[in-house]
Amino acid sequence: MSQKRRALITGITGQDGAYLARFLLEKGYEVYGAFRRLSTPNLWRLQALDIFHQVQLIPMELVDSASMTGALVASRPHEVYNLAAQSFVGASFEQPVGTGQVTGLAVSRLLECIRHVDPGIRFYQASTSELFGNSTQVPHNELTPFEPASPYAAAKLYGYWITRIYREAYDLFAVNGILFNHESPLRGLEFVTRKITNALAKVKLGLESKVSLGNLEASRDWGFAGDYVESMWLMLQQEAPGDYVIATGETHTVREFFTLACEIAGLDPAGILEVNPKFMRPLDVDLLLGDSGKAQRMLGWQPRVTFRELVRIMMETDLARWHRWQKGEQFPWDAFNYPSEMNILSRAVKS
Ligand code: NAP
Ligand code: GDD
Repeated sequence: MSQKRRALITGITGQDGAYLARFLLEKGYEVYGAFRRLSTPNLWRLQALDIFHQVQLIPMELVDSASMTGALVASRPHEVYNLAAQSFVGASFEQPVGTGQVTGLAVSRLLECIRHVDPGIRFYQASTSELFGNSTQVPHNELTPFEPASPYAAAKLYGYWITRIYREAYDLFAVNGILFNHESPLRGLEFVTRKITNALAKVKLGLESKVSLGNLEASRDWGFAGDYVESMWLMLQQEAPGDYVIATGETHTVREFFTLACEIAGLDPAGILEVNPKFMRPLDVDLLLGDSGKAQRMLGWQPRVTFRELVRIMMETDLARWHRWQKGEQFPWDAFNYPSEMNILSRAVKS
C-alpha cells in the first residue's frame, strides 16, 4: 500500500483546485480530483499547469451524496479540500435556490459522508470574505460579525457554520479558510479582474474597442491564488482545527485595477471604459479588507505577490494568449470560445 498522503480536492477543475493540486503534488501527495460530468470536459486549467496526467479524477456531483461517498471510498483520503461550489456572486442572484443547494447544503452532505466513511479525515471548507458582506468593522478578522449580502454569501454562511458544528459535535478536524478574493491567469472569465485583463488584451490587439463594467467603486483585497492555496494546506497540518482569515491587508477599487491594467498593457483608459447597469448587482459589497494576523502568527503564512505584480501577471498572460491565438496556436485556454457577456441576458440587475 502507498505510504504517500492522499488528498481529495472537490472542484478540481476550478482555479483553486488546479493550483492546490499542483501544490500538493509538489509536496509528494497522491492527488484525487472530484469533477462533475459535463457534456464537454473542462480540464484546461490542469492542462495549463501541466499536471493533468498526475491527478486521478473521480466523478462527483454536489447534490448527490452517493457520489460523495463513492469519491471518498475510491480515494481513501487523509485530507479533503472542499473547493467545489457555485462560486460566482452575480449568478447567485439568478440561481438563489441552486446556489443554496450546491454552495451551502452540499457542505453538510460531504461532512455527513466523511463522518460515516472515515471521521479521521481532515476537512477544509472554502469559506469566504463575502461572509463579512457590508459589515462596517474593517479590517475584517476572525471575530468580525458576518453580514452576508448575496444568496452566495448566505449559502457560504451555512457552510461555515455547519463546518464548525461538525467540528464541535463530532470532533472532526474541520476548518474554515476565510479567504479574501484571490486571482490569477486561471481565474474564471466572469470575475472582474480576469474580465478586465481579457477584454483589455482584445482591445490592445484590435479585436474589441470597449470594456463594459458595473460598480467601479467596489473595493477588494485581491491576492494571488497560488499564494492562497498554501494556506489551505497549512490549516490542515496544525495540531488543532481552527478558522483563519487569509488576505493581503490592502484594498483597491475596480477602477484602480482597470487603470493599472491599462498602464501595463500600454493603453489609454480614456474612451475604452463604459459603465453598463447590466453589470450592477441587486446588492453589492462595497469594501473588503482583511487582517490575516492570526494566520501569519499561527500558520507562518504570508502573501508574496503584490497587487501590482498580480495585475501584471494577469495582463501579460492574457495579452500573450490572444497573441498566440492570432498566430493560430492551440493551447489549453478558455477565452477563445467564451460568449461576450453582452450577449448573455441577465435578469438579476439593480432595480
Ligand atoms: P471556481 O473556479 O468557480 O471553481 C469552482 C469549482 O466547483 C469548479 O471545479 C466547478 O466545476 C465546481 N462545481 C460547481 N458546481 C458543482 C457541482 N454541482 N458539482 C460538482 N462540482 C461543482 O472557484 P475558485 O475561485 O477556484 O474557488 C474555489 C472555492 O473557494 C469556491 O468554493 C469559492 O466559492 C471559494 N472562494 C473563492 C475565492 C476566490 O477569490 N477565488 C475566495 C473565497 C472563497 P466546473 O468546472 O464543472 O464548473
Ligand atoms: N464580475 C463582475 N463583472 N464584477 C464587477 C463588474 C463586472 O463587470 N463590474 C464591477 N464589478 C464589481 C462587482 O460588483 C464586485 O463588487 C467586484 O467587482 C468583484 O466582483 P467579482 O470579481 O465577481 O468577485 P466577488 O468579490 O463578487 O466574489 C469573488 O470573491 C469572493 C471573496 O470575497 C468570488 O471569487 C467569490 O467566490 C469569493 O467568495
